[in-house]
Amino acid sequence: MAKNVLLLGLLAITCTLAIAYEPSPLQDFCVADTTSSTRVNGLACLDSKLVQANHFSFSGLHVTGNTSNPTGSIVTPVLVGQIPGLNTLGISMARIDYAPWGLSAPHFHPRATEILTVLEGTLFVGFVTSNPDNRLITKVLEKGDVFVFPVGLPHFQRNVGNGSAVSISSLSSQNPGVITVAKAVFGSNPSIADDILAKAFQIDKSVIDQLQANL
Ligand SMILES: *[C@@H]1O[C@H](CO)[C@@H](O)[C@H](O)[C@H]1NC(C)=O
Ligand SMILES: *[C@@H]1O[C@H](CO)[C@@H](O)[C@H](O)[C@H]1NC(C)=O
Repeated sequence: MAKNVLLLGLLAITCTLAIAYEPSPLQDFCVADTTSSTRVNGLACLDSKLVQANHFSFSGLHVTGNTSNPTGSIVTPVLVGQIPGLNTLGISMARIDYAPWGLSAPHFHPRATEILTVLEGTLFVGFVTSNPDNRLITKVLEKGDVFVFPVGLPHFQRNVGNGSAVSISSLSSQNPGVITVAKAVFGSNPSIADDILAKAFQIDKSVIDQLQANL
């Protein structure tokens, strides 16, 4: 029951946002003009005469991320924020580093399907389908293996090897968005009232308070 309430909420958010795909480009490119205050679906275009190679480029994806944090994983994003030339093109990427046993906690991308490739190490990955099945689909991936997380479905990756691991993801949006399930439910600002979550999860309010204090 509790799981269903949560997933129904997530599904509602997903359905609203999953239709917001970038339209097909109507010009060669539309490099983001980050100084413009014009609000469109995406970012306003920079005058194409001012466009340079740097607008289509990012450096540093070879650099190992610092995984010294509570979950032991770190994302290096290469989205429209890093490459303004991605604006309107419906694609982006990211590098993820994992310490031994590092975890990319359950999360989903409201606007993108993700294709993950393991470059180093061994990852246990999985995603959960929507109601009513809520089926968990998992696989252990080795170096060179590729896995797809369909748009809007909660997924996770755990490093189950003895060394560090690295993966690269391609994402079908310039700005995929990330909703970390634990943070969305227990770490919202302001907090969702503990009696609401106690009822949704069918557990004591004190447990909810503890989870909220942790996130
Ligand atoms: C990694 O991050 C931790 C925690 O923020 C910090 O103490 C440490 O100096 C960082 N290490 C490197 C190599 O930057
Ligand atoms: C990790 O190390 C242990 C002990 O040395 C070994 O048995 C195990 O196979 C290793 N696991 C991987 C994924 O390399």
